Amino acid sequence: MSNHQDVLSQLDKKYNKIDQDLDTHLDGLLHSKPITYWDYINTDALLSLQTQRTGLPDEMVFLMYHQVNELLFKMMLWELEQLASEKNISAEFFKERLSRVSRYFDMLASSFTVMQDGMDLKQYMKFRDTLTPASGYQSEQYRKIEFASTEIINLVDNRFRNKTPKDVKLEDAFEDLYWQAAGKDFKTGKKNYMLTSFEDRYKNELLRFGKTYRTRNLWSIFKALPSKIKEDKGLVDAMRHYDYTVNVTWVMAHYNAAKHYLTNGGEITEATGGSDWTKYMHPKYQRRIFFPELWSEQEREDWGKNL
Ligand code: HEM
Repeated sequence: MSNHQDVLSQLDKKYNKIDQDLDTHLDGLLHSKPITYWDYINTDALLSLQTQRTGLPDEMVFLMYHQVNELLFKMMLWELEQLASEKNISAEFFKERLSRVSRYFDMLASSFTVMQDGMDLKQYMKFRDTLTPASGYQSEQYRKIEFASTEIINLVDNRFRNKTPKDVKLEDAFEDLYWQAAGKDFKTGKKNYMLTSFEDRYKNELLRFGKTYRTRNLWSIFKALPSKIKEDKGLVDAMRHYDYTVNVTWVMAHYNAAKHYLTNGGEITEATGGSDWTKYMHPKYQRRIFFPELWSEQEREDWGKNL
């Protein structure tokens, strides 16, 4: 059978299965337009999403770099979802997906100088006033990446972590998650607008997401792999690399950008979201670690120190 005939008979089967007439679809092909790059990528739609709140040119750098981050976050979540939904995970599949996710975060960490060095300080200090009380803190995808990377216990505020059961569920630990500290007064329970508006918008979805990833996050999946694979030095190094990139390298790049703009001549400026950012943003205070058992006690103790 020639290739044409073979394809035609396969198409016939395909359309028969869904009670469709192949001839009508073939006629449709005669009239349909060929695909173009701009239709496929949706270039016009994508490039129409940059709406500035001021006329200051560097606000565009700020806005678009955040959008680039959200696109890469989406790429990471795509891979993490492939891992979570795969029933029989081989060592090769795990390594491959981990390296994809890790590569995306490497891109984010190494490009963060776009924020620190890529905007004019005077312009930043002007356009930031139009963004209060919004903050990158309100990125839902960033929180999802954390839930898909580790168990909830490792995202509990460092002050309460030892007193919390290791297998705590998200719904029981939600109020003790480390990020509550940026918007909540733990003595009175009062939350700021950055946090309440974020929770109003995303809490239900985050709880649903957390349930799905409770045993299907990177750390739980890794722990369930056969010992021989778990002890593979290359894999352990790759896990540690991802952990360090997300929780130290990126966090420090972010902190240094904040320091650059928000400590004007030694004086500390309030963040748009309103957190006590000098403390909140430094890794030595939050000490979040996705894969704690892959680090020695000393390494965990020294997390983020001397930076
Ligand atoms: C000049 C650039 C930036 C500055 C000065 C800055 C500043 C801050 C500050 C002060 C906070 C603490 C919460 C608050 O009070 O607002 C924060 C949180 C956060 N920002 Fe940024 N940020 C910058 C760029 C970015 C970018 C490009 C992203 C990427 C999406 C981002 C994502 C986040 C996230 C995820 C948090 C929460 C982090 C956590 O809970 O530990 N930020 N940022």
